Formats: sequence, C-alpha cells, structure tokens
Amino acid sequence: MGVSVMMNPAIQSQRCPAFHLPRLPSSGCFKVSMASTLHSPSKVAVKKPFSPPREIPFQVKHSMPEEKIEMFKSLEPWAERNILPLLKPVESCWQPQDFLPNPASEGFDDQVEELRQRAKELPDDYFVVLVGDMITEEALPTYQTMINTLDGVRDETGASTTPWGIWTRAWTAEENRHGDLLNKYLYLSGRVDMRQIEKTIQYLIGTGMNPKTENNPYLGFIFTSFQERATFISHGNTARHAKEHGNLKLAQLCGMIASDEKRHETAYTKIVEKLFEVDPDGTIQALADMMQKKISMPAHLMYDGRNENLFDHFSAVAQRLQVYTAKDYADILEFLVGRWKVADLTTGLTGEGRKAQDYVCGLATRIRRIQERAEGRAKEAGTARISWIFDKEVKL
Ligand SMILES: [Fe+2]
Ligand SMILES: [Fe+2]
Repeated sequence: MGVSVMMNPAIQSQRCPAFHLPRLPSSGCFKVSMASTLHSPSKVAVKKPFSPPREIPFQVKHSMPEEKIEMFKSLEPWAERNILPLLKPVESCWQPQDFLPNPASEGFDDQVEELRQRAKELPDDYFVVLVGDMITEEALPTYQTMINTLDGVRDETGASTTPWGIWTRAWTAEENRHGDLLNKYLYLSGRVDMRQIEKTIQYLIGTGMNPKTENNPYLGFIFTSFQERATFISHGNTARHAKEHGNLKLAQLCGMIASDEKRHETAYTKIVEKLFEVDPDGTIQALADMMQKKISMPAHLMYDGRNENLFDHFSAVAQRLQVYTAKDYADILEFLVGRWKVADLTTGLTGEGRKAQDYVCGLATRIRRIQERAEGRAKEAGTARISWIFDKEVKL
C-alpha cells in the first residue's frame, strides 16, 4: 500500500486526548489534490481516548448483495490456481537484512559509516518523501484490517485455509518487509528524527483510514489495485532519485520494494479482471463508484502530534519531487481502464452499467484538464517545517 497526494478540504477535527486527528486544510490544494478522503463536511464527534478518534459519518457497510458472497466462494478454485502462484515462497524472497549492514559481521561499523556518508549526499526533501513512504508502509495493520473487512473473502479465523485468507496473510507478510527495510535504513542514516517518525506511525495506526470500500470486495480489490500501482510508481521514483544522487544501494533497496508492489498489482488487477468477466455490470458500477468517491490514500490521516497539515505537506513535497503526483493519479486510472478493457465491454451491461462505463472512460482526461487549470492558478508554494527532519524547512 502506498503513498499519497490527495486531500479533501472538508473535514475539521476536534481533539481527543489520545489520538486526535490532523485538521485538514480549509481550502482545497488542488495542485496536489484529487482523491478526496472523506467527502462531506462532517459533524465530528469527540471520542473517548483510545477509541477511534472520530466518527466518520455516512460510512456505508456491506454494500454488496448477500448472494454475491456465494460468487466469491465459487471463485476460490480460480483464486487458488491464479492468485496464490503470484506469492513468492519465503525462501526465495528478499529480506531487509539483504540490503542492510550485518550487525553480526566484523565490518558492521564500517558498513554503517558508509551508509551514513552516502545518506549525507541526499537532500532533506528527499528524506521527507522517503519517511512518508515508510510511515505509509508501517501502517500495515490498518491495511490487513481493511482487507479483512471484505465480505466473502475475509480471513474468518486468522488462519483460514481459503485462498482468499491465505493470500491476505501472505500478502501482509510480504508487505511487512517494506516498512522494516525502510525503517532500518532511515534509522541508520542518521538523517531523520526517529522519535517523531515513530510517533507518527503510532498515531496513524491508532487512527486507521477511511477507504470507503464498504466491506465490498469489488470496491476493495479496485482500491488495492489502485494502491499497489501507486506504490509501485512512488517507490520506483524514490529509487530513481537515489540513483540520480549516486546512491546505488538505496536505489536498489527502493527498487526491490517497487518490484513487490508490481507483483501485488498484478494479483489484485487479475482479481478485478476476473470480476469483469463474471459480473461486468456489477464491476463497472463498482469502479465508477470508487472513482466517484475518489481513492483515498492510505496515510491520509497521518499526524505527528504537532503538524495538523502533515499529510498535505508530505504530499506537496512528493508532488514537487515528482515521486507521486496528481498526474500519476490520472495515469493509474487510465492504466487500469486499459488493463481491464473497460472501453470494450459490450455485453452484460445495464443502462446504469453503460453510464458507469462512459463516466470511467472519460475520467482520466477530465482529471488532467482540471489539474492543468489548477496548475495555472497555483499560487507560489510555501514552505513548511517537518518534524521528521528535525523541523528543518522544506519547500512545498
Ligand atoms: Fe503494496
Ligand atoms: Fe508496500
């Protein structure tokens, strides 16, 4: 799961002692925005400490009709044959230790010193993006929870033997290496304020996210398809930047993560492709619904205990460095529409389905047009102090 560029102006938070949420900006920053997080101005309830920080109104639960649960059950043999092979056996997986100084070796100190010297050559704003990506990965419990909300595919026991359950656990286990690797690298680099970062992770996991997937696996797998591709793009770009700064080891490290994301994208897009095959009308309507609500970014509720606009600041830096941009959002949508051959759907669509098809097929172009107009109007970007890099100032 991944990064983020988007924000919706709509929400004001109120504080709760333990996990209060960042107040989101009062005006839309369309320069970096497109996917809204929560789509209506909200009434916010103050919660007890350690309960979810606020009630998000209009959360829809269980939008998939009950009979379709059977359909997911009937897809289990298919998932076993087509999805599980996309997991890698643990023994052939890379591990974070493969890319980090070995603490049991004689040369550990020298290896750490070299890593730190190399890290000095990278600019502060690069670290803001790398930290934001790492924090996003570290909120993995939230993403596993989200997938396990989905009707018909959730892991019912914690050790379910259905292919859906097996996939979700093994996917989580693969993803877990991403946060571990980035976290350890950043710790050793000496360039970042680990305590502030750790607080941000704790806040974020305590807060959760609002993906608007409604316990509905159609929506859920569209969401994960989008997110795996988004993270593939962003980790690929942090790799490219590291290489441009001459840091080949860091480039390799980010590149390894990106390659996992790509494999995960393949799996989730394959599931949605199958849904288009067995239920084109339901799937196209789900895609339109998800895009209409906009894909919220997994870390959209991040907070470090100080900066109420932290996510926007991180997103703005990611946008400016071209690690993940509003254009990428449109590109991902266009890619998925092509991948699922949405424009070619002819049979099995109702009138609503046709409308959804038209909407989705024209959406990437519309987003780009709005984006260009917003760029034309964009004011001079400001700066922000980011706690992750010891409150140093970065351009947004
Ligand atoms: Fe991922
Ligand atoms: Fe990941």
